Amino acid sequence: MSDTVLDVHISPERLLEDLRADVRQGLTASPKWLSPKWFYDAAGSELFEKITELPEYYPTRTERALIEAHAYDIAERTDAAILVELGSGSSEKTRLLLAAGVKHGSLHKYVPQDVSPSALTGAIEQISQEFPALQLQGIVSDFTDTLQNLPADGRRTIAFLGGTLGNLIPEERAEFLSDIGGALVSDEFLLLGVGLVIDPDVLVPAYDDAAGVTASFNANVLSVLNTRLGADFDPAKFAHVALWNSEDEWIEMRLRATEAHHVSIADLGLDIDFEAGEELRTEISAKFRREGIERELVDAGFGIDEFWTDPQDRFALILARRS
Ligand code: AVJ
Repeated sequence: MSDTVLDVHISPERLLEDLRADVRQGLTASPKWLSPKWFYDAAGSELFEKITELPEYYPTRTERALIEAHAYDIAERTDAAILVELGSGSSEKTRLLLAAGVKHGSLHKYVPQDVSPSALTGAIEQISQEFPALQLQGIVSDFTDTLQNLPADGRRTIAFLGGTLGNLIPEERAEFLSDIGGALVSDEFLLLGVGLVIDPDVLVPAYDDAAGVTASFNANVLSVLNTRLGADFDPAKFAHVALWNSEDEWIEMRLRATEAHHVSIADLGLDIDFEAGEELRTEISAKFRREGIERELVDAGFGIDEFWTDPQDRFALILARRS
C-alpha cells in the first residue's frame, strides 16, 4: 500500500465521548432514540454489506446500475482530479466511478471517508491493488464533520451515495448540504444518490427482509452499547420494527421491548426502564421527491446538471454543480 494514508480525524476517545453523550441524551429522552451512526462497528458494517445483497433491498443494486450506466458521462462532465466520498463504507460501487475517472484521464486521487476504520481499511486495501496509480487518502470521521481540510490540489467531486443523506433529519440535512456547498468552489460537483418515495409495499420489506438480516443489523446497535459502554441489553427482549412514516416520508426503524424490563449502562451510571411495547427509534431513512431534493440542492448553492433515475423510479443519482 504505497502512497496510502489513513487520516484519523476522529480519535477513538472522541468517538467514545460522542457515543456516551448521544446514548445519554437519546435513552433518557421520550420517546427514546439512538443515532444510526452507531450501527457501524465491524459486525454492523458486515451486516450492512449483507443487507445490500438481499432480494428486498433494491437501493444498492439500483444505484449501482445507475452509476454503471453514467460513470463515463460523470467523469467527462466533472473532469475531477479528486473524488471525495462521504460515508464510503466498502466503496464497492465507487470502483465504477474510479475506473471511469482513470480512463478519462483526469482522476488522480480518491479520498474515502467513513466512521468505520475496519470498512475503510478493507476498502483502501482493495482499491490500492485495483488502481495502483491512484493516490489514496482515507479519513476516519463522522461525515457531518469532514468537510474542513479537504484536499484542494485539483478539481473535486464529492460523492455521497447509497441514500445515506436520508439518515439526517431535514434541519441537519439542510445544514449538511450547505456545508458541502461551502466546501466546494464554483463548477465543482456533488454526486448524490437518494432513494425516492415509492410504494410502501416495496419500501417496507427493504427494511424488514424475510431472512431477518435487517433485524440483526438493527439489534446489533444494542451489542455495540454492551461492548463499548458496559450495558446489559438483552437483544432477545427487543423486536425489529420497520414502518413507513407517510407524513415525514421516511422509513423508521425501531426496537420494540417485548416485555417490561430495565437495562443498566454501567459506564454512564444510567438505569433505563422499558415498558412492555415501548419503542426505541434507531434510524430514519428519508425518501425524496424530485422537486423536493432539487429545491434543497438549489438552496444549498447547487444547480442540477443531471437527475438520473432507474426505469421504476425507485432511486435517483443526481449530479449537482456548485453555482
Ligand atoms: C446506509 C443509511 C443508506 O438507510 O437504507 C439499511 C442503512 N438501514 N437497512 C439505508 C440501512 C436498514 C441504509 N443507509
